[in-house]
Amino acid sequence: QKPIKVALLGCGTVGTEVVRLLTDQAADLTARVGAPVELAGIAVRKPNKHREVPAELLTTDVDGLVESDVDVVVEVVGGIEPARTWLLKALHGGKSVVTANKALLAEHSGELFQAADSTGADLYFEAAVAGAIPLLRPLRESLAGDRITRVMGIVNGTTNFILSGMDSTGASYSETLEEATRLGYAEADPTADVDGFDAASKAAILASLAFHSRVTAADVHREGIASVSAADIAAAKGLGRTVKLLAICERVTSAGGESISVRVHPAMIPRTHPLAGVNGAFNAVFVEADAAGEMMFYGRGAGGAPTASAVLGDLVAVARNRVVSGRGPRESAYAALPVRPMGQA
Ligand code: NDP
Ligand code: HSE
Repeated sequence: QKPIKVALLGCGTVGTEVVRLLTDQAADLTARVGAPVELAGIAVRKPNKHREVPAELLTTDVDGLVESDVDVVVEVVGGIEPARTWLLKALHGGKSVVTANKALLAEHSGELFQAADSTGADLYFEAAVAGAIPLLRPLRESLAGDRITRVMGIVNGTTNFILSGMDSTGASYSETLEEATRLGYAEADPTADVDGFDAASKAAILASLAFHSRVTAADVHREGIASVSAADIAAAKGLGRTVKLLAICERVTSAGGESISVRVHPAMIPRTHPLAGVNGAFNAVFVEADAAGEMMFYGRGAGGAPTASAVLGDLVAVARNRVVSGRGPRESAYAALPVRPMGQA
């Protein structure tokens, strides 16, 4: 079977782990896809700093790599431009795209999907919201026959680490942010996290999928956590509550008809609520649907390996679509391990 050729754009926190999983699990991936998955090139800014990957794969010529004879482009660079231009080029050229770029999707998913539709290419982005947690495909596919009424959750690990740290130690916002930076959760410039931009991008993506609508980051009411004080946290505790930065996407029915409300803001929730027990850099999302009822998705929302797990899942799906056009796993994908009879040592 002809190999599926992959161009990887970016080899930082997430990209390095994508390369590791692609290498370590090459044989399993071949069985699951039905063809070998081959890394054709890795685009970075500074090739000399990437001693961990084969030097012959590294390039700074991103356009050349995207335009080469690859089947799939995996983008883990981030930001709007030049990522938008690269991905449009890939999709217009009929290449499937896997991306973790929530900022781009929250602003430009309309034109990206149009480009994908124009050539029949796949556009998958499970890693863009809630890291490793399988959430977007359940919203897009498993629940496609239901009517989702509400999606509410903790979708930013950095702010959840800060708020749960303030709650457990009584420390101030700035002390806890320093700790988050020291541990590598918060970035050098934590603005996107603490001011709620990151969560707003994720809320826009969630609302678009849940309500089959086009929602952008600009449609999301946004408040961050910078003004949450130790006194606010203590007051919430006194009321049997805790403070969490929530992303809330709801269907709203009014005299004018049905519409969507999407917002991100700190909220006091009862300490008995399941979201109150989500601490550190973890994420959790509640989904309510008419027929399915309530569901909760919980897990690691950030970090190289968890995010790469979601990227690889998408890569397997789009690569498989190229081999067997959307049929799902082939029979050979179930031959990885033998079943051990009960009682056998
Ligand atoms: P990093 O900053 O760690 O890595 C970015 C990579 O992109 C680097 O390898 C960098 O090259 C490369 N790069 C940047 N600009 C260019 C350019 N102009 N041309 C070629 N290569 C370029 O980012 P992350 O891995 O943390 O994040 C990647 C994406 O994943 C982002 O969209 C982010 O939002 C998303 N994401 C990240 C998560 C996380 O926990 N980190 C979780 C979920 C999603 P070089 O190394 O040479 O500088
Ligand atoms: N900065 C993000 C967070 C990374 O803290 O959740 C994962 O999207």
